[in-house]
Amino acid sequence: MQPSNIRNFAIIAHIDHGKSTLADRIMEQTATVSQRERQDQLLDDLAVERAHGVTVKSRTVRNFYQAEDGQEYEYNLIDTPGHVDFTYEVSKSLAASDGAILLVDATQGVQAQTVANLRLARENQLVVIPVINKIDAAAADVDRTTQQIRALGGDLATATIYRISAKTGLGVHAVMEAIRTTIPAPSGRATAPLKALVFDSQYDAFKGIIAAVRVVDGQLTAQEPLRLMAHNQALTAKEIGVLAPNRTATARLGVGEVGYVITGFKDPHALRVGDTLTSATTPTATALPGYQPAQSVVYAGFYPQGDHYRDLQLAVEKLALNDSSFHYRAETSDALGPGFRCGFLGIFHLQIIRERLHDEYGLDVLTTAPNVTYRVHVARETDPVVVDNPIKFPDFSQIEWVEEPLAQATITTTSDTLSAVMKLAEQHQGTLEDMANQGDLIVLTYQLPFSEIAYDFFNTLKSVSHGYATLTTELAGYAPADVVKIEVHVNYARVDALSFVVHRQDVARVTQALVHQLKTVIPRKLYPMPVQAVVEGKAVARVDVPPLRKNAAVNGEQRSTSKKQALLRRQSKNKRQASHSEIELPQAVFNAVLDLE
Ligand code: GTP
Repeated sequence: MQPSNIRNFAIIAHIDHGKSTLADRIMEQTATVSQRERQDQLLDDLAVERAHGVTVKSRTVRNFYQAEDGQEYEYNLIDTPGHVDFTYEVSKSLAASDGAILLVDATQGVQAQTVANLRLARENQLVVIPVINKIDAAAADVDRTTQQIRALGGDLATATIYRISAKTGLGVHAVMEAIRTTIPAPSGRATAPLKALVFDSQYDAFKGIIAAVRVVDGQLTAQEPLRLMAHNQALTAKEIGVLAPNRTATARLGVGEVGYVITGFKDPHALRVGDTLTSATTPTATALPGYQPAQSVVYAGFYPQGDHYRDLQLAVEKLALNDSSFHYRAETSDALGPGFRCGFLGIFHLQIIRERLHDEYGLDVLTTAPNVTYRVHVARETDPVVVDNPIKFPDFSQIEWVEEPLAQATITTTSDTLSAVMKLAEQHQGTLEDMANQGDLIVLTYQLPFSEIAYDFFNTLKSVSHGYATLTTELAGYAPADVVKIEVHVNYARVDALSFVVHRQDVARVTQALVHQLKTVIPRKLYPMPVQAVVEGKAVARVDVPPLRKNAAVNGEQRSTSKKQALLRRQSKNKRQASHSEIELPQAVFNAVLDLE
């Protein structure tokens, strides 16, 4: 297709505002999917996406649109995730687009992710088409939503705002026309050397790495020897093609076209998203700018259950290829053996990766309590030790001071839930920095420790605001913090994988709750086992996990003295033989740490 008839665009929106439903309608109106193939949210094909009803991965689809001007256009649509933990995925998709449909739910109006995603679109200099969705819904307030969109400023102050129901298809045709009349055609040079952006990748069990690419200059053909510029890696494409929405082989991809390349690479490390693909014989001189690597915010250990270390290793390698904001490296725990320290953009991201390991690789992993990164300043060292694993937290006798990451959190909420939201932020050590009105909504800016929001804050925020409040967060630097490591000792042996770091002021409350929870989930043995929480070398809380059988010492009144002594001897022998390696650590034990408020 000639570039003047190609349009590459993304759909961006707050979570649940209807992106995937609109994508379905577009595919239907362009007859990309037949009636037979039709199913709701066709693009959300990962099991986790169907289970949670959210998009986690971006998807690309090529559609042919028969426009009112009598010409045929190639519409490359990129569906993107809406949840705050997947913003990185959105930014990758936008770098491959020339325009974006900004979709706003008429029943909810402009929300935090609407604003955050609009900002990303503007950073990428994309033309934005504002569209109000769900106008069929009884609770729709189109006028108010229109005002809120106007208030976003820039081009949106005067742009045509389209009104649609992605559900019924009402108004969607006008948006289809707006895409070709408003979004610019790709501007690359057909005769220049090949330059293509690798904006996504996935691992196929049979075909190896499949890269999603957008051709910026030149053309990509199946036979041509290619080169990836970051590592100067040579390759010959096994196949090139387009996603329509299934893989369909083509002979070439021209300027502005979006498609896939089957690289034949089996090593998941061979390709990096953001790299530039060029010709090996007539290479381009300069690579594309690529992407900033994603910054992990939350870390946790993943350990295989049973004898599946190698399977887990292959699975995390392949997942990291498909999700470049997921990071991992090998680590070993005394209690759990070899595993991986993994970095995520948030807790929901962690949960999704765990579920993908289960759904796509059949692996259930033990997950240790999540933590943020600390900078620990120790005696006689100029640079701080960067700790992303509580096991590695230096001994308290060495520590001079510790810094923790701070978040700048933007919370958007309604006036009637404002006081509940502010109370919650204060409980989590939030400092209010700004408060502003945005239409009927109130936008609060807080600075608070990342550890305070990394776990359950988002869910609690949703519940205290009856689902209305929304949250976006950014790393705002590091600040000194009074934090300590809590170690858990079971039967006098330290269980390293249960260590975690908390603010000192929370120690008493957290350790009491922890030992009582552990009492119910640590599998019982024939002898009683003390469970202790140890802080700075001192046990600060203790409970005993009761034995499976009655203790001869206290319950055996009816027995003869010799029988009682024999029982005591057996139990004492058992106790001495027990080491922490015999203590089973089911996921419930780690959940006890996770569940702490
Ligand atoms: P994420 O991928 O999770 O960010 O969500 P999304 O933006 O893709 O939203 P999705 O298309 O999954 O739609 C969310 C919900 O809104 C679904 O239950 C849809 O059926 C519903 N919905 C979407 N469009 C409309 C509409 O025009 N009218 C009504 N009444 N409901 C709609």
